[in-house]
Amino acid sequence: MKRGYTLGNRKVAIIGAGFVGSTVAYALSLRDIAREIVLIDHNRDKAEGEALDIRHGLPALGTADLYAGDYSDCGDCDLIIIAAGRKRAAGESRTDLAGENVRILWDVVSSVQKYYTRGSVLLISNPVDILTYKASEWLGLPNGHVFGTGCILDSSRFVRVIADYVGLSTGVVQGYLVGEHGESQVPIWSRVTVGGIPIGEYCSEVCIAWNEAVRAELAERTRSMGTEIIRAKGKTHFGIATCVCQLADAILNQRPTIACVSSPLLGEHGVRDVALSVPSVIGPGGVQQRIREHWAPEEYRGFFDAVENVRAVLRRFA
Ligand SMILES: NC(=O)c1ccc[n+]([C@@H]2O[C@H](COP(=O)([O-])OP(=O)(O)OC[C@H]3O[C@@H](n4cnc5c(N)ncnc54)[C@H](O)[C@@H]3O)[C@@H](O)[C@H]2O)c1
Repeated sequence: MKRGYTLGNRKVAIIGAGFVGSTVAYALSLRDIAREIVLIDHNRDKAEGEALDIRHGLPALGTADLYAGDYSDCGDCDLIIIAAGRKRAAGESRTDLAGENVRILWDVVSSVQKYYTRGSVLLISNPVDILTYKASEWLGLPNGHVFGTGCILDSSRFVRVIADYVGLSTGVVQGYLVGEHGESQVPIWSRVTVGGIPIGEYCSEVCIAWNEAVRAELAERTRSMGTEIIRAKGKTHFGIATCVCQLADAILNQRPTIACVSSPLLGEHGVRDVALSVPSVIGPGGVQQRIREHWAPEEYRGFFDAVENVRAVLRRFA
């Protein structure tokens, strides 16, 4: 599994300096995860403004060199993050963005390709599974170099929702979702633990209800969280930016981690030619391995439904 990478420049390019891109830059700066961060946007003024705003706080909080740049800055990056594209409005689904954002992605990837020499490419823009697959196809990089945030944010929301239900801190809850970052996400209930104890066993011991209706409600709360935030404030950006820090840290600072992110499957669970989330080892070079764990029969059924849903959208862009 080790690929013999050495610590690079710890340089990150973020393409798309909107709410998501600039919040990622801000979060990476606060946590001192990168040495150099370049913000790129077709609205150069926007990138300049966001970079200047974040830079002004850096002397007190971080050491990263943060500036607005252009695609030539992607040449020596260890990580290129793509957050350019339209966000969904209230009432829209992520797949409603596909046509417009695949076109924007083509612009972005063509520009990156002119300068790309090395590094991982991380997709955030939606629909992230579709864009991850197309970026991977167009860039033609080795397996795992192109991946998407996928279900990492959904998994984080899932852990929060469960922790609130059992009345414990998120630190003791482990759980995740696989499949699509979207409507057909699949909670892997069979693996949820609280302090290392299977959640059903824990709930029975402390007399908290644990049944199908409770699971359905928690799953729905997780699935609808993005929609609820968009209804209330028109966008989501803090949650995803926090999740990206874990991935960037794994890549830039060689702190390998496991998370449910999206990457093109190469026969895992018998599936290929589509990008979806499964638990994956992430380190320098991106997704180093996708873990083929065993799920309950209904979890497999949900996963295969997600495969079909994402494939149906992908077919429009073949
Ligand atoms: N994966 C996730 O979990 C997740 C979470 C939140 C948002 N998102 C997605 O992230 C994307 C960005 O959201 P946002 O809130 O930052 O939107 P935003 O409108 O605030 O910003 C988008 C930015 O992209 C730029 N842009 C558009 N076309 C471009 C091009 N061709 N080249 C360079 N830059 C270009 C725009 O100028 C703008 O600054 C959306 O697609 C949204 O759905 C994903």
